[in-house]
Amino acid sequence: MAKFPKGFLWGGALAANQTEGAYLEGGKGLTTVDLMPTGENRWKIATGHIDSFAPKKNEFYPSHEAIDFYHRYKEDIALFAEMGFKALRVSISWARIFPNGDDEMPNEAGLQFYDDLFDEMRKYDIEPVVTIAHFDVPVHLVEAYGSWRNRQLVDFFERYAKTILTRYQDKVKYWMTFNEINMLLHLPFVGAGLVFKEGENEIQIKYQAAHHQLVASALAVKACHEIIPDAKIGCMLAAGETYPYTSNPDDVAKAMEKDRESFFIDVQARGEYPGYAKRFFRDNHLTIEMEAGDEELLKNHTVDYIGFSYYSSRTASTDPEVLKNQTSGNVFGSVANPYLQTSEWGWAIDPKGFRITANQLWDRYQKPLFVVENGLGAIDEPNADGTIEDDYRIDYLRKHIDQMGEAIEDGVDIIGYTSWGPIDIISASTGEMKKRYGYIYVDRDNEGNGTLKRTKKKSFDWYKNVIASNGEIL
Ligand code: BG6
Repeated sequence: MAKFPKGFLWGGALAANQTEGAYLEGGKGLTTVDLMPTGENRWKIATGHIDSFAPKKNEFYPSHEAIDFYHRYKEDIALFAEMGFKALRVSISWARIFPNGDDEMPNEAGLQFYDDLFDEMRKYDIEPVVTIAHFDVPVHLVEAYGSWRNRQLVDFFERYAKTILTRYQDKVKYWMTFNEINMLLHLPFVGAGLVFKEGENEIQIKYQAAHHQLVASALAVKACHEIIPDAKIGCMLAAGETYPYTSNPDDVAKAMEKDRESFFIDVQARGEYPGYAKRFFRDNHLTIEMEAGDEELLKNHTVDYIGFSYYSSRTASTDPEVLKNQTSGNVFGSVANPYLQTSEWGWAIDPKGFRITANQLWDRYQKPLFVVENGLGAIDEPNADGTIEDDYRIDYLRKHIDQMGEAIEDGVDIIGYTSWGPIDIISASTGEMKKRYGYIYVDRDNEGNGTLKRTKKKSFDWYKNVIASNGEIL
């Protein structure tokens, strides 16, 4: 029996802010990521500390041009079609549709761009999978309202969501609300456009903003079910099981606590805050302001599937000595797991953890899973003739897809797999170009030099075969 079900959605995943470029074209407004340069200031800004809401002359902002997908999407989609993609995950840039976020009327040029993009995918029978918010908020909403800390964002988001759900109701049948909703706890500017003033209670603001996003997510689910009854709409978690470093019950409890960061998904999938989240709020003296009707809304409008990204597992410990040995580069901060190798950016490589994570999510939520991100960020060195032999990437993906098959054998309902960055794009965490995930190489470096020419890597044909054999040939 084939492991992967018929109609399994093989493909790739992208995000507007990491691919499109054309940051002010077609009437688009500035988004948060347009204020994130490469280099040391990026991290400061990502964590909510910014001193200007306009790009600066002496900084390089990779999102401004990115890989110019805005102008080159036809060429790129033709390459994805050549690989046999069944699905392509993209996000809509909020500021292309509502340049300021609080505009009364949407921007027609922005709407038309995505119409054209979805038509191009449909031309090749590629199913669009659309994230409504992937790490970008119109800058005006940050400046004028304080972004997601302000309840008004819920209304602006609802208007935006209803606009795109209505416009693309015949073209898009798979939707997702917020990308990696738990990211706002780690990179609050990236996940929610949050900027903190000196001395503010950051944790209180983050959880209040999270509540607003959860309400907005439920409203988008409601609208999607009303406007496109045959569509599916999911949530999206940055997943990765946390292992205890030892069998010491303190470590086990710590790992459990760390994993419970995914309480967001309990709210989105089960419709209510779990008891441990309420306890966490109590113990930390956090007060989440809710409006009348919020609880009912969350309860009545849960998601159809659980979208998640998986790059690595994490490890937790309570031992101060062990805690000194952190893996670098992973925004989720984890102690190094002595059994695992890491990527060049310090992310633990753990294919079996993928099977474990998928099983845990399935056991916990009993809703179909959609793997909407997985992949290896690595440096590719083209040979003298321009070819790229990315066997390390093939190795990573092969082992992960194999373990996804094991999870399916375990009985986990997985509807699709869109690997991250099927074409090289800007890294979300570092802004680098050299952290490449693609089957397709893009000639561009960290400083923005290069022709942007696309070249197939060795993994291109490999993935093509995986899809053609429905995961039988790895
Ligand atoms: C996820 C994001 O966090 O991981 C993507 O949803 C991101 O936007 C991806 O690009 C990989 O992370 P990075 O930092 O290597 O780009």
